[in-house]
Amino acid sequence: MSKLILGIETSCDDTSVSILKETAERPEVLFHNKFSQELILRKWGGVVPEIAARNHLAKITPLLDECFEKANVKPEEIDGIGVTTIPGLLGPLLTGLNAAKTISLIHQKPIIPVNHLYAHLEAIHLTEDVSYPYLGLLVSGGHSIFFLVEDKHTFKVLGGTIDDAAGEAFDKGGKALGLGYPAGVIIDRYSQWGDKDRFKFPVAMKSDPTPKMSFSGIKTAVRQFMEKHPDEFKEPFPIMSERDSKYQFLYDVCASYQKGIVDTLTNKLDKALTLAPKKIPIVVGGGVACNSYLRSEIKSKHKNSYFVKPEFCTDNGAMIANYALRNFDNATSFPDCLELDARGRFIQKGSKNG
Ligand code: KG4
Ligand code: ZN
Repeated sequence: MSKLILGIETSCDDTSVSILKETAERPEVLFHNKFSQELILRKWGGVVPEIAARNHLAKITPLLDECFEKANVKPEEIDGIGVTTIPGLLGPLLTGLNAAKTISLIHQKPIIPVNHLYAHLEAIHLTEDVSYPYLGLLVSGGHSIFFLVEDKHTFKVLGGTIDDAAGEAFDKGGKALGLGYPAGVIIDRYSQWGDKDRFKFPVAMKSDPTPKMSFSGIKTAVRQFMEKHPDEFKEPFPIMSERDSKYQFLYDVCASYQKGIVDTLTNKLDKALTLAPKKIPIVVGGGVACNSYLRSEIKSKHKNSYFVKPEFCTDNGAMIANYALRNFDNATSFPDCLELDARGRFIQKGSKNG
């Protein structure tokens, strides 16, 4: 019998749930939906953990109800619950975990603890056939890491950022430019109308031979750039869905800034590849993997590269359910799954997860 898995994701600012059905080929997403707190959090210019946790609490039950209804699945019919347990913000994580524990208690279903970072990369299996080992580039709002993924349990860190994540560079640079939160998708859009070679933003640690990256310098470079061009930044910019030639300067800044971030990633991808077996497939996942310039740059240089489908790149319950399905052997038996350690981490004897 093919399994039905519920996935719950609440590690940061997206409340998302999904139900996946196991099939002989790849899992079928029966339903997935998310409530993104972007508009709410824009007021604060970023994620405030306590506010994010309260919004998860308000949204998780209606989303779960909708998910079961639209997937046409009864809670008692699912085989297990995948839930993000690490890493993330403590309050938001606990909201999702408590929802999972409640369903587990009521319907006596096992829980599969899910590492959010691994789930981002493994989401590739929702749409592509990629075999192990692969080189995974995880680029999100909180992380930028190269993994050598040897099998479904073995994620070896080859290197990553020593300060900010790539998504943070997009968001904080964009915030400085006055583009609001989160700015990654806006910079991506404006860059398509701009000249990426008009300005030069630094590519950090270019000659360093390791896959270590840094994005704090490029963020500072934006502020210095703005100080040098005060007249261009006097008025706040509107959010645009169509090109307006009045704002060409801004589009050129966005395209040049985006190029600095993407060049840093592609430069370090080459370094990471020297540490991996030859001709290894490359998988790119996480919110920044939606970026159109990153996608085209990596795809044009590496034929054997695969990007997680954009709808499964930013935080979502389907990637959590997918990871849980692939690791169903790691399911806890009810009710052992109800323990948390002092740091709010989900503990489970014999777990292969962090
Ligand atoms: O994976 P994700 O949803 O959350 C974390 O796990 O952190 O990633 C969110 C990040 C944000 O920094 C957002 O600005 C960035 O992904 N992002 C993008 C794009 N879409 C989302 N960055 C660049 N270009 C995009 N199209
Ligand atoms: Zn994420």
